[in-house]
Amino acid sequence: METVLAAFDSAYWQGRYATGRDGWDTHTITPPLRAYFDQLDVAHQPRILIPGAGRAYEAEYLHKRGFQQVFVADIAPEALAALAARVPDFPADHLLLADFFALPNDPPFDLIVEQTFFCALNPALRPAYARQCAALLRPGGTLMGLLFDTDFGPVQEPPFGGSKEEYRAYFALYFEFRHFETATNSLRSRQGRELFICLKKK
Ligand SMILES: C[S@@+](CC[C@H](N)C(=O)[O-])C[C@H]1O[C@@H](n2cnc3c(N)ncnc32)[C@H](O)[C@@H]1O
Repeated sequence: METVLAAFDSAYWQGRYATGRDGWDTHTITPPLRAYFDQLDVAHQPRILIPGAGRAYEAEYLHKRGFQQVFVADIAPEALAALAARVPDFPADHLLLADFFALPNDPPFDLIVEQTFFCALNPALRPAYARQCAALLRPGGTLMGLLFDTDFGPVQEPPFGGSKEEYRAYFALYFEFRHFETATNSLRSRQGRELFICLKKK
């Protein structure tokens, strides 16, 4: 019999924040994302989207390095409120309380940053995730970040695992693969269990 998963909607995620069931929260930017951001040229002021951003330590890091076109999207008000409280000068109109799948693509983004958002979605939405990332990026734009390459078992709620082979099929439709390998600088708790990806929109 097919298992029907609950809807992981705003109330679900607000509830996880409210009850401290937020084990994904690293309280700081993670090393793979920091290393990637450190080689970005701030002079270009890329338009950056961090969907399912949570408390958004990556947005804070980029903002403090002078990137002015950083947008975060999340359906849980708590997540956006946490960033606003930590970084009062983060532009309020860059805090998008919105469903990733309903975000407009005009103007398009240069860069989308992924970290523990893909694994938070119902796995049935994975093809739509790849399609929406492509829709939100300009041609040649980049989707980069981290995807769990591990099996979390027969769980009924996030995080949902998967494999490199499974993911490749979703993204190959829209992206060229620049990098799609096990991350070498993961947090210790995630070592060997996540892929570092850097994909260019076709
Ligand atoms: C597991 S948390 C990860 C948060 C953050 N990326 C991090 O690494 O700390 C998943 C986040 O995605 C958000 N989320 C879930 N579904 C979403 C959707 N359809 N659109 C936007 N955000 C969503 C949740 O509210 C939650 O903050």
